[in-house]
Order: sequence, then C-alpha cells, then structure tokens
Amino acid sequence: MFNSIKKNVYFFCFFLVKKIRFPSATIYTNFVMPNVKLGKGVVLREKVKVQSGVSIGDHTFINEYTQIDANTKYIGKYCSISHNVKIGAGPHPHNFVSTSPVFYSSNRGYIDSNLYDEYKEKGFTEIGHDVLVYANAIIVAGVIIGHGAIIGGGSIVTRDVPPYAIVAGVPAKIIGYRFSPDIIKKLLESCWWNLDITYLAHLSTTMKSPEAFLAEIEKCRQ
Ligand SMILES: CC(C)(COP(=O)(O)OP(=O)(O)OC[C@H]1O[C@@H](n2cnc3c(N)ncnc32)[C@H](O)[C@@H]1OP(=O)(O)O)[C@@H](O)C(=O)NCCC(=O)NCCS
Repeated sequence: MFNSIKKNVYFFCFFLVKKIRFPSATIYTNFVMPNVKLGKGVVLREKVKVQSGVSIGDHTFINEYTQIDANTKYIGKYCSISHNVKIGAGPHPHNFVSTSPVFYSSNRGYIDSNLYDEYKEKGFTEIGHDVLVYANAIIVAGVIIGHGAIIGGGSIVTRDVPPYAIVAGVPAKIIGYRFSPDIIKKLLESCWWNLDITYLAHLSTTMKSPEAFLAEIEKCRQ
C-alpha cells in the first residue's frame, strides 16, 4: 500500500517536471536527459531515450524504444522515427588494448579522467526535416541525413544520405529517390517546414501531389 502511494507520487512528480520542462511536447518516456531541447508538438513514446545536448524540431514523432545518443546534434521538424531505432550510435576505441569503457571512461569509476572522446572521434549526427526512419535502423555517429530522406527498416546507415533519397540495407545504399531532381530542388527551396502549421494543415489535401502543393505555396507568396 505504502509502496504503491510512493510510486504514484513519484510518477506524478515526474509528470509535473516534464510538463514544466516541455509544456508543448507529449512525453510518455521517463528518459529525457538534461539539456535536451524539444520543439512544439514533439511526441516521445514509451521507453524512448534522449541523451543530453540533443535538439528535436517541432512535430517530430519518435516511437517506442528508440534511442537518441549524445552524438546527435539535432533532428529536424516533422520527422517520423519508428520503434527501436538508434541514432548517433558512437564507437568504442578499436586500437586501445581493451575496448571496454572501464579503461577509458571515468563514468565507470575506475579511472580519474576520460581517455577517449567518442564525440570527437566520429562527430555528430544531424537529421534534416521530414525524415522518415523505419523500424530497427541504426544511424551511426557523424552521419548527416538530408531533408526528406527515408531510411529503410533494419538499415545501418554509415554514410551521409542526400535529401529525398531512399536508402536501405547493411550498409545502407540508395535504392531510389522520392521525387524527380526538379521537384526535390523546388521542395528544398520552398523550406515548407518553416511555414505556419495551420497553413500547412490547410494545404494537406494538396500534399498527395508535390506539384500542386508547390503551386499553392507559390500562389500564397506572390
Ligand atoms: C525502405 C522501404 C520503405 C522500401 O520501400 P520501396 O521504396 O517501396 O522499395 P522496394 O520495396 O521497391 O525495394 C527496392 C529494393 O530495395 C530492397 N529493400 C527494400 N527495403 C529494404 C530494407 N529495409 N533493407 C534492405 N533492402 C531493402 C528490396 O529488396 C528491393 O531490392 P531489389 O530491387 O534487389 O529487389 C521498405 O522496404 C522498408 O524498409 N519498410 C520498413 C517498414 C517499417 O519499418 N515500418 C514501421 C512502421 S513505422
């Protein structure tokens, strides 16, 4: 009985802290580390882990068990990240006598200072706007994913991905593009993800056709 009350008080406090830290996001997970930035309308489902320093853009959805490591600089707006994805997965040292963090990371309590900087080693992962990452993909540290790209389920992405490319496999290779080069250029120039969401929602019926969507935006800009 007492334990159950304690548990409920703990979850209520955690719920309040999340609401105060991120008033306009919907967060079902308890693993959002300090110094994380979440945009408006971000949804983080159960058991998602977001490490310190990561910034996630407006209306990005991240499904269960996905892990965003500290090697991730940012994830853009309107991204859809499926379950069990790993983003910014960093390396251990390969040329030390042991690959175990016991001997290179002070976090483990056996040495006084860090001897290996995994962030410096590979750099930071950057995910553009409107990127779709299917289930079980791994995007390694330092890779840059262009706007509008699609990452196939179970892929391991080891190289940068151009905007609007569809990549799949291990290692991930380009299997196609979502649109023609001309449409891709126009979508990138439009930066539609920076427009007001109410306006974009109003245009949603044109989104089936990039040409119609771009024409509507153009009309509005004139
Ligand atoms: C990446 C994906 C979207 C590709 O869809 P597509 O553009 O319609 O591509 P196709 O199915 O025509 O496949 C094209 C080629 O890529 C291969 N391919 C497709 N998906 C692949 C994947 N995930 N890994 C490896 N190869 C893949 C196909 O076998 C095919 O190869 P082939 O030309 O040698 O026969 C899709 O296969 C995928 O990964 N879906 C995952 C769905 C998911 O995780 N859903 C979770 C819900 S959010």
